[in-house]
Formats: sequence, C-alpha cells, structure tokens
Amino acid sequence: MPPAKVPTSEAYPLKAWRRQAKSKLAPPTPAAYEGKTVLLVGATGVILSDAARILSNLKIDTLIFGVRNVKKGEALADTLRPKHADVDFKTWEIDLFSFESVKKFAAMINDYGRIDAIVMGSAIMNEETKMTKDGWEETLQLVHLSAALLFALILPKLLAHAEDPTGLPPVVLSNVSSLSIRSTSPFLKLPATPAESYLGHLNRADATATERRNQYGYAKILQTCWLRDLCARLPPAPATGPSRSTRSTRASAPRPSASSASSPRSSCCGPAGPSR
Ligand SMILES: NC(=O)c1ccc[n+]([C@@H]2O[C@H](COP(=O)([O-])OP(=O)(O)OC[C@H]3O[C@@H](n4cnc5c(N)ncnc54)[C@H](OP(=O)(O)O)[C@@H]3O)[C@@H](O)[C@H]2O)c1
Repeated sequence: MPPAKVPTSEAYPLKAWRRQAKSKLAPPTPAAYEGKTVLLVGATGVILSDAARILSNLKIDTLIFGVRNVKKGEALADTLRPKHADVDFKTWEIDLFSFESVKKFAAMINDYGRIDAIVMGSAIMNEETKMTKDGWEETLQLVHLSAALLFALILPKLLAHAEDPTGLPPVVLSNVSSLSIRSTSPFLKLPATPAESYLGHLNRADATATERRNQYGYAKILQTCWLRDLCARLPPAPATGPSRSTRSTRASAPRPSASSASSPRSSCCGPAGPSR
C-alpha cells in the first residue's frame, strides 16, 4: 500500500496563519508586562535574545533564560543588567537533546512561583543526521519531542494558574513555528499501515538527503499539530477582565501579547510567530 499523502491544509493550516497575520496585535507595552515573569527557552538565539532586550524595557520583574549554555545565558544577562537594574535576570540550564534535562527543567518551573509567559524558541538545522543519547534524531527531539514533554510536564501548573483566584490573566505559552511548514508539507506522507510508526520513520538515521533537508519542517509540523490537538482538548479560557491584583502596584495588566501565544485555557492554537 503506498504511503498516504497528508492534505496540505492539515499540515499547513493556512486559515489559522491568515487569521493571525490579519489580526492586529498590539505592540508589547509596559502596561502588559510590568511586574511580570517571563521565561525564554532558547534565549541565546537571535530572535529570543532580541525579545529579551525588548522585554527588559517593559518594566518586567523577572526574566528567566532557559539555555543549554549557561555561560552564554549569563553573558546575555550581563549585557542587559547595567541598563535594567530593576529586572531580576536568571539563567536556567536546559538541554533539549536530553529528556532527563527537560524533566529537571520542568521541575524547576513547577517549583517556581507564577511564570506569566513562556516562549519556546530553540532550534537547530543539521546538515547531517545526528542522534541524541536518548536515541532520537536531534531535530525531532529538540523541536517536537522535548518541547512536547516539557509542555506536558508543566501543563498542570499552567492550568492551575489559569484559575488564579486573584484574577490574574492565564499564563501564556508560546511556541515559535516556521513557514518551512509550507515548503515541507507536500513531502509529508503518513505510513502505509497503522502498524508503522511515523516517528520511527522520521527517526531513521539513513534518511535520504531530501528527507534530511525536510526534517526541520517535519518536526515543526508535528509540533504544530500536536499543540493544536492539545489545545483542542483544553477547556475554554475563562473570560479575562482587568486583573484584580498583581504583584506590582499597577494592577490592571492585561494578558501579555506575543505572537503565537496560546493560553493553556484557550482554544486558540494555530501556529504563528516569526518564520524563516
Ligand atoms: N531565524 C529565522 O529566520 C527563523 C525563521 C522561522 C522560524 N524560526 C524559529 O524561531 C526560533 C528562534 O530562531 P533563531 O533563529 O533565533 O534560532 P538560533 O539563533 O539558531 O538560536 C537557536 C537557539 O536554540 C538553542 N539550542 C540549540 N540546541 C539546543 C539544545 N540542545 N537545547 C537547548 N537549546 C538549544 C541555541 O542555544 P546555543 O546558543 O547554546 O546554541 C539557541 O539559543 C526557532 O524556533 C526557529 O525555528 C526562526
């Protein structure tokens, strides 16, 4: 039986992208971020290090960098500290090539107080197929498996904060996707029989050059579909009015706006964010 083609509309939810492209997202303001705690996973990358600089200017309370290289994370924090003495910069280690490391990182998040927004923005683009010590192809593990594991482990905490008794808005979880989903989606084929594992197929070390080139897009598609399904299973977000209280004196902080934002209590879960 030939492998089943996946409709492009399924892999590449054009409508969701269009909706988000047309939506008028307000630029981030101190009113939205003041007193907030934000966690950037992949903070040392090009996009999130820029996000770190923007957030530092928004009267944020705490900025946590989730990084695989703590020295690099601290170096980023050191460039920001002189101008932003009021921001508490923290650097936490996470190696997305290691499920053990992801579990430790999730435990740190779960042990910490409220984190208002979490952004996942780590990435790699390998030219060769490389396997992690967990036995997975690196791109697949970093983009999808480790991110999914992290989300699953912290979801109960995020959901608990969705029902914050003090009226704080739900936590925002953002996952940076990529327009490579579009170029890759025509090549996406499901296994011929249900017995074959699609993850197993993507995990082949002997992948052809084309398949290797598409691996980043395949992993992004999987992660997007997984997130979309996860969000579809969550109860709708409670109506969020102005906050009744926050840790800062400015009490009416609306929900932070971020591209590709999805609240753990929201049904919104299209892919979004910057695209390569
Ligand atoms: N740049 C674009 O044009 C573009 C376009 C579309 C989508 N995106 C998406 O946007 C996000 C950010 O992209 P970017 O261009 O800013 O990425 P980048 O500059 O390549 O940075 C990637 C980040 O991922 C981290 N990372 C790599 N391997 C890791 C691992 N094993 N564990 C933990 N972290 C690891 C890197 O850490 P080190 O600093 O230690 O290497 C770095 O912080 C990604 O999700 C990417 O897919 C980017």
